[in-house]
Amino acid sequence: MDNAVELSDDLREYIFASSEPVHPVLRRIIDETQAMSERSMQVTPEQSIFLRAMVRLVKPQRILEIGTFTGLSSLVMASALPEGGRITCLDISEEFTAIARRAWDEAGVGDRIDLILGPALESISELKGQYEMVFIDADKGNLQAYVEAVLPMLPAGGVVMVDNTLWKQLVVAGDPSTSTVTIQRFNVWLRDHPDFDVEMIGIADGVTLAIKR
Ligand SMILES: C[S@@+](CC[C@H](N)C(=O)[O-])C[C@H]1O[C@@H](n2cnc3c(N)ncnc32)[C@H](O)[C@@H]1O
Repeated sequence: MDNAVELSDDLREYIFASSEPVHPVLRRIIDETQAMSERSMQVTPEQSIFLRAMVRLVKPQRILEIGTFTGLSSLVMASALPEGGRITCLDISEEFTAIARRAWDEAGVGDRIDLILGPALESISELKGQYEMVFIDADKGNLQAYVEAVLPMLPAGGVVMVDNTLWKQLVVAGDPSTSTVTIQRFNVWLRDHPDFDVEMIGIADGVTLAIKR
């Protein structure tokens, strides 16, 4: 296939320049995080634009994010929320989310975001009400458990977005490691789930959309 792009920094800049402007804090959080040793955990810049587009399309009043890190995905989704919309963010790391909190406040979206620290499965069990959109981007061994835990909170038409479902392309590399097999099994389980219409999107490390029937 010779029409698929591998994104250079110049093309990423072009994607930003060809989209709605992003808040300057978003660029800073990318630069700051890319200087950290844990940088590979951050969603990619073009993926942040995709997430913003999803929020503009779905117009959720409530988003649940599982795995916040230094705040890029939450910042960009919060910036696109409709009037009165809110995001609940779950993470276990005080250290990483301190960076996120600062970025949210500087970008003027901190008042739309509720951060809950602790193991996400425990936090989800305490949540009440509906979430029309869920972004799952935390520990991959719990992917199925996260989907099962959020399913009762999703209305019909609600969307679960799962990150890293191509797992650095290892899902097709004959890799027998536990992490790769876990993602492969999860992808089959989700595709065959009777409550969802499922589409895998080939952006960044793979984002699967599961739309509740
Ligand atoms: C891939 S990063 C999230 C990236 C983020 N969405 C972004 O936009 O940059 C994964 C995050 O999940 C968190 N995490 C890992 N295991 C967790 C758990 N059991 N419960 C809650 N958060 C967890 C980590 O602390 C880390 O910040």
